[in-house]
Amino acid sequence: MGSAAAQRPHPEIMPLGLLWLGLTLLGALQTQAQASTPNLIPAPPLLKVPLQQDFQDDQFQGKWYVVGLAGNAVSKEEQGKFKMYSTTYQLKEDHSYNVTSILFRDQNCDYFIRTFVPSSQPGQFSLGNIKAYPEVQSYTVRVVATNYHQFAMVFFKKVSKNKEYFKITLYGRTKELTPELKEDFVRFTKSLGLTDDHILFPVPIDKCIDE
Ligand SMILES: *[C@@H]1O[C@H](CO)[C@@H](O)[C@H](O)[C@H]1NC(C)=O
Repeated sequence: MGSAAAQRPHPEIMPLGLLWLGLTLLGALQTQAQASTPNLIPAPPLLKVPLQQDFQDDQFQGKWYVVGLAGNAVSKEEQGKFKMYSTTYQLKEDHSYNVTSILFRDQNCDYFIRTFVPSSQPGQFSLGNIKAYPEVQSYTVRVVATNYHQFAMVFFKKVSKNKEYFKITLYGRTKELTPELKEDFVRFTKSLGLTDDHILFPVPIDKCIDE
C-alpha cells in the first residue's frame, strides 16, 4: 500500500483573482489523476462469488496472515516490495467482528480497526459505522471458502467516489500456504476477471504482524 499523501496533491488555496486559474489547474490535476488511474476491471456480480456454506463465525476468529492479494487496484509490479500484513477478527456479543489489520510501514506498526457487521447471509458482512468513511458508498465482505484452521479466501467489494473496487485475499493461519492453495486462489481470482497482473504474494515479514 503506497502513501496516500504522496498520491493526492493538495492544491494551495488561491487568491480570488486567480480563482479561474486555480479551477483550471484543479481540472488539469484531476484529468492527470484520471489518466494515471488504469481502467478498472469491473467487479463481478455477487452471484458469481461463492459463499462458504454453513459459515462458523466463532471458528473464523483470530489472526490471519495475508498470503495472497488480488484485485482490480492491485498491481503485480509491487510483488517483492509489498510486505505481508495481518488481520485479526474478534467476535463481539452482537456477532459483529472487530477487525484489526496491522501493517509495517515507514518503520512503524500501523493499525487499522473497523467493524464487519453480519448482513444478508452467514459469511457475508458490511462495514460498520460506514458514515465514518465519507468516501465509501458501499462495502461488502464475503467469505468465499475457509477450513478455519489453515486458509481462507475472502472477497471484498467497495464503491468509493463512484468507482467500484474489488479484491480477494488469501488468508493463512501461517505465513506460508501450500502451492495447491495458492493455485486455487489464482484460479479463483481469474474466474472473477482478474489477470496475473493483478495478483501478488506479499513478502513474509516478522515486524508488527507477529504481535
Ligand atoms: C472491539 O473494539 C472496541 C473498540 O476498539 C473495544 O472497545 C472492544 O473491547 C473490542 N471488542 C472485542 C470483543 O474485541
